[in-house]
Amino acid sequence: MEKFIINGKRQLGGEISVHGSKNSVLPILASTLLIKGKSIIHNVPNLTDVDSSIKILEYLGAEVCRSGSSIYVDASDISDNTIPEEMMREMRSSIIFLGALLSRCKEAYICYPGGCEIGVRPIDLHLSSLRKLGAAINESGNCLSCKCTSLTGAKIILSFPSVGATENIIISAVLAKGKTTIINAAREPEISDLASFLNSCGARIFGAGEGTVEIEGVDALYSACHTVIPDRIVAATYMSAAAITSSELIIKNIRTLHLTPVMPVFSEMGCKMYISGNDLKISAPKRLKRVKNIKTMPYPGFPTDCQSIVMSALAKAKGTTVINESIFESRFKHVSELSRFGADITVNGDTAVISGVAELYGANVFCTDLRGGSALVLAALAAEGVSSIGDIYHIDRGYEKLENSLNQIGADITRQNVT
Ligand code: UD1
Repeated sequence: MEKFIINGKRQLGGEISVHGSKNSVLPILASTLLIKGKSIIHNVPNLTDVDSSIKILEYLGAEVCRSGSSIYVDASDISDNTIPEEMMREMRSSIIFLGALLSRCKEAYICYPGGCEIGVRPIDLHLSSLRKLGAAINESGNCLSCKCTSLTGAKIILSFPSVGATENIIISAVLAKGKTTIINAAREPEISDLASFLNSCGARIFGAGEGTVEIEGVDALYSACHTVIPDRIVAATYMSAAAITSSELIIKNIRTLHLTPVMPVFSEMGCKMYISGNDLKISAPKRLKRVKNIKTMPYPGFPTDCQSIVMSALAKAKGTTVINESIFESRFKHVSELSRFGADITVNGDTAVISGVAELYGANVFCTDLRGGSALVLAALAAEGVSSIGDIYHIDRGYEKLENSLNQIGADITRQNVT
């Protein structure tokens, strides 16, 4: 077990680069199972969730080779169709392997996935969609056994634009017979990135990134090379680091379009932003201003993954902000830890009221989940004195050595073993 020790109140400055997107690379890695050949994926972040995906691919018989930020997957020979429970429980995204395994092996044996404890996180939309494509799924206790003679295209109307369900449908449908139409598909950039990888392998996916996605099944997919998009949530974390420490940063390797849902919030806080190509310069005022109202929504709305990240900054803003969390029902677990820094936040159901305070003070806290954990790091950066942040394995799921990136721009963070 490890923890961060953070000396707060350091002025940040300089350039910081954003690594590849976790939420893009995980479904892309799962989808390499569809290709009887080599896939080459570049800009892969070094994260524990990526390690977990590689473990699953290797367990199933794929050959995986990693070199720097590139991964080579050769899924020519797949020898298993069962994912052991301990691997399924390491991350929520393991559920994306279900569609890939079904398509490739026509049989899959898995159990319910793990992941961040931010809500109930059912998989009913994944299962009902796969059933529509022809899968017979048997649920017994924690285990799922799934079979099909073949998968056949269908019209699938999602009652909610679930990111994971949309990805599972796309992955299952690319080699299915005939056409699949997804109505009310998730529109997150990671969906477009998955489609872009699969299309470069010969898939025929149209409309990814829009509410209606059409997939015309093809007979086979071929080897291809793909570069993962930058991680928009990591970029927003760095934006919040600048905001909470009243600093100026140049954030490199961003996609401006992907940040449009969060930029107005930073603007309302009083931050100035300048875009130049793939770089974003953000300059924060001495004291941030409150934001009138934030409601998390599916893309292109304000992302739920940025809720805790901006909450830390708003905890130090002048005035009161109301945040409504509409995606996950238990996504305020970090609030009790943030309060230990002196933040004044009250939660009532899906609503948090943040009354900004002038100062935050160093605290001894524990990460409750991935993005909640990064929110604690942000608070510690701005806090007077020393903070200790435990259970940072949550943070390592989604940030590549966060302490190194932040130290490079002036933070003072050390990683320590907890004995
Ligand atoms: C993905 C992201 C996660 C992000 C979330 C919402 C990955 C690896 N993770 O998670 O970082 O916070 O999108 O943007 O990409 N739901 C159901 N039934 C289902 C599936 C989902 O009711 O079968 C509900 C969930 O409980 C939740 C909502 O739909 O309330 C959104 O979930 P979903 O979009 O599926 O999120 P994930 O794919 O799990």
